[in-house]
Amino acid sequence: MYKKEQVILRVDNVNLSYDRQILRDVSFEVHNITRPNVQQGQVVSLIGRSGIGKTQLFKILSGLQKPTSGSVFIGSDLHPVAAGEVGIVPQNYILFNHRTILDNLKLGLRGSVTKLTDKEKQELIDKHASKFGLSDQLKKYPMQLSGGQRQRVSIIQQILTGNKFILLDEPFSGLDPVIKDKVVELLVDISLLDEMNTLVIVSHDMENSLAISDTAFILSKQEGHEGATITEKIDLMEMGLSWDPHIKSKREFQDLVAQMKFKM
Ligand SMILES: Nc1ncnc2c1ncn2[C@@H]1O[C@H](COP(=O)(O)OP(=O)(O)O)[C@@H](O)[C@H]1O
Ligand SMILES: [Mg+2]
Repeated sequence: MYKKEQVILRVDNVNLSYDRQILRDVSFEVHNITRPNVQQGQVVSLIGRSGIGKTQLFKILSGLQKPTSGSVFIGSDLHPVAAGEVGIVPQNYILFNHRTILDNLKLGLRGSVTKLTDKEKQELIDKHASKFGLSDQLKKYPMQLSGGQRQRVSIIQQILTGNKFILLDEPFSGLDPVIKDKVVELLVDISLLDEMNTLVIVSHDMENSLAISDTAFILSKQEGHEGATITEKIDLMEMGLSWDPHIKSKREFQDLVAQMKFKM
């Protein structure tokens, strides 16, 4: 069993226009989900075709870009989102190439947790590096790692900032299938770190996004309208298709993926 508790992210009628409308009345809510005896946060995806406006929405959700109209509220007090308060893993995540992996991870600890001593910082990094299979990579430089490993460093760097909300833009793209499965596992592990951790994924990858989410939204265009909006809400919890590490091999799940690809 699970319970939908209070709203912790609310997107209210977000519109974005340049010379034409990109996003139209995008509204959705993310609830704090609790389950007895399980410490697990929320995983939500926004899924849509390439060019539909996902990266623009990602920037708006992170407070990095102002919408033309509408608002994003975040946290248990639902205050307007401000740049820097959510962790972001952009599609072309940036690691500093002239710094070691260890130093890159230390950057994650720069802000909120400065009260930590150097020794405590080192221990925290070691703990995460070991949990996510990066212990042997700490002294290396980004270019000496594979794309998948670099992405993991970038995600862990955001975890270390202590932000409860982490937004990821296309976390499954540009990776080979085996590594994609590892990213799915990593994101589940991160949601398990803290009951309040909330991952918001924007992606065009229907299967991997749904496999990991408790709730998903489809972003697409409606006939006769300019701009993308939420056209479908998928409650995977209600369908009994969430929190299952072997979900991809389930028939009902595969049917759902096929059905939703049509609605994209
Ligand atoms: N600064 C801008 N001025 C005008 N159009 C833009 C600007 N930034 C993005 N767009 C347009 O917004 C649309 C959505 O882009 P994007 O959010 O990157 O799509 P997605 O991430 O879903 O592939 C694209 O058609 C793009 O050309
Ligand atoms: Mg994009």
